[in-house]
Amino acid sequence: MMSESVAMQEALLNREVSSAVLTELKEAPCSGNAMRSVCVVSGKGGTGKSMISASLAFLLSEQGNTLLFDADLGVANAHILQGMRPTHTIAEVIAGQTSMRNVVTPCYDGLDLLAGGSGVAQLASLNGGELEVLGASFRSVEEEYCYMVVDSAAGLSRQTIAFAAASDRVLVVTTPAVTALTDAYAFLKVLLTRRPQCRPQLIINRVVVPAEGDRAAERLTDVTKRFLGVELECIAQLPDDRAAFVATQEQRPVVRGGGNSHLALALRELGRTIVQDLDTARPCGFGSSLHKHLVD
Ligand SMILES: Nc1ncnc2c1ncn2[C@@H]1O[C@H](COP(=O)(O)OP(=O)(O)OP(=O)(O)O)[C@@H](O)[C@H]1O
Ligand SMILES: [Mg+2]
Repeated sequence: MMSESVAMQEALLNREVSSAVLTELKEAPCSGNAMRSVCVVSGKGGTGKSMISASLAFLLSEQGNTLLFDADLGVANAHILQGMRPTHTIAEVIAGQTSMRNVVTPCYDGLDLLAGGSGVAQLASLNGGELEVLGASFRSVEEEYCYMVVDSAAGLSRQTIAFAAASDRVLVVTTPAVTALTDAYAFLKVLLTRRPQCRPQLIINRVVVPAEGDRAAERLTDVTKRFLGVELECIAQLPDDRAAFVATQEQRPVVRGGGNSHLALALRELGRTIVQDLDTARPCGFGSSLHKHLVD
């Protein structure tokens, strides 16, 4: 008999979404738009999106039920930073095999993880039908969560842009390096073309010398204002800190245990800023919004 994961991979390879599954999902009750979503993005890889998402998810889970969505589909690793080994992933939902509710992995009190699957290359380039299934699936679970953190893949793929455009808040992470800044600007340009009313917020990570962090923030906010006509607010500078490496090795978010490193303190401050901001946001409903932001 074919194993479940082989069947799931075959379904993905065929890229077929059964119309029965889609109809069922479309009829799922709407969430009432309670869940607030925050998407952590960057143009360049390795800027610290997953490190920040892991801690943010932990901090938000202290305030209300939170879903951490590992949107680095195909090469997902957010589960490692929560010390989890998920047995189910979003691949099964996309393949139309089961519901989203059945694949979330409870991590600890208040936090569930939606694992992104690994080793399935097709997950990195979902087609319109598959994204539509995802949107409908999110609608069916949104009412169970107060917050969702989306840990994005690097780059400008159609699905990464769609996830960001569908979120209530977008946090653009960059290091002070000019290459990271250039890629962050490229991401902003594409995102703002897709969703002109989006007001992304900036985080400068891995800051060694505060003046360099200030300069990086100034450069990116300046060009964003000048060429894209948008005020980009820098909401945090996070220090380069060995605490990130130690937390990764211990497979936990930096802010969970491990004392009061400079990085943990800065992340807690960032968490407070984001909770305050999200609590005043008017949630747009990630699932329905994803549907709206699908592009061909
Ligand atoms: N503030 C920091 N201080 C020191 N190291 C850091 C810091 N932030 C992130 N790192 C380290 O940088 C590396 C990349 O971080 P992370 O995996 O979070 O980046 P990412 O943006 O999610 O990468 P990808 O684009 O591959 O998903 C990791 O080894 C992480 O521990
Ligand atoms: Mg990552």
